[in-house]
Amino acid sequence: NASLREWAAAKGLIYGAATQEYMLSSNPQFASSFVRECAMLVPEDELKWKSLRPSLNRFDFTRSDRLAQFAKTHNLLFRGHTLLWHARLPSWFKSTVNHRNARQIMLEHITKVAGHYAGQMHSWDVVNEAVFPEDGRSDSLRITPWLRFLGSDYLDLAFRAASTADPQALLVYNDYGMEYDTPKDEAKRTAVLKLLERLRSQGTPVQALGIQAHLWGGETRFNPSQLRAFLKDIASLGLKILITELDVTDKHLPSDIHLRDRLVAGIYQDYLSVVLDEPEVIAVITWGLSDRYTWLSQRQARRDGEAVRPLPLDANMRRKEAWKAIARAF
Ligand code: XIL
Repeated sequence: NASLREWAAAKGLIYGAATQEYMLSSNPQFASSFVRECAMLVPEDELKWKSLRPSLNRFDFTRSDRLAQFAKTHNLLFRGHTLLWHARLPSWFKSTVNHRNARQIMLEHITKVAGHYAGQMHSWDVVNEAVFPEDGRSDSLRITPWLRFLGSDYLDLAFRAASTADPQALLVYNDYGMEYDTPKDEAKRTAVLKLLERLRSQGTPVQALGIQAHLWGGETRFNPSQLRAFLKDIASLGLKILITELDVTDKHLPSDIHLRDRLVAGIYQDYLSVVLDEPEVIAVITWGLSDRYTWLSQRQARRDGEAVRPLPLDANMRRKEAWKAIARAF
């Protein structure tokens, strides 16, 4: 029967997933599942500084080009993640970049990388995770090397460089922790909205908000009206919305696999049934497709030693309750 890409397309939406080059090249069953279920591919790691830039003056597009080629061969949309982030920076970064050369190094990176794929990208996460109210700054910007060396204009600079290098890509500001009815997530939503208002008012070419949506199975609940209001506020800035890294950590859910799968599916259902009501939401991307390949195996391993089960397909590429919940939500 229909795949997630077809269920999504029937509603004018894009469904896709993050993956890594080795997963596709080493596992034909996974590769064929990916092509069946997904309309878009985003490299999980291959377009980050650490992967692309082995030294200051050397760029290595080998693996990211293979993913771009896979997308092209299989008529998948290709999205870039991420031109500017404070994590996954190469080992030479700390000892090389300073307040005198940071601007030139940043602009060179964005121009080179976005230029390399110009015309091929559905969208780029231009800046990732720049808002962090816990850092106590009045503008809630996270204290990163980019902020320290360039000041709070670095976001505008980055988006303008990306827009010049690839005028066709949809330019996205991407962040996490905006999902739940908690003081922390509320502070984050408020700060992200404020940042986007400021950027839009100064003519920064940001065109969409990426909501990572790394969800948790467990007690914390959504507040549907609060979530709808936030999405509406974002849309009222003239921005599109993408759900960019959707998965459900089952670390604190019971060991029983059938119960766990149903609970995870319920979280997908609860969240997507709210966010997909917002017409400006254009894409849902899960951070991985199969439980065999999820970053949560390391990041959120279960204490009972059971394999984590956060994604729509199980480790043998079989469709789970989560798959049905996502299909139903479209
Ligand atoms: C993660 C990848 O999944 C891991 O393979 C890598 O080791 C670390 O980064 N938010 C993001 C993504 O924006 O880039 C992160 O991806 C997950 C959290």
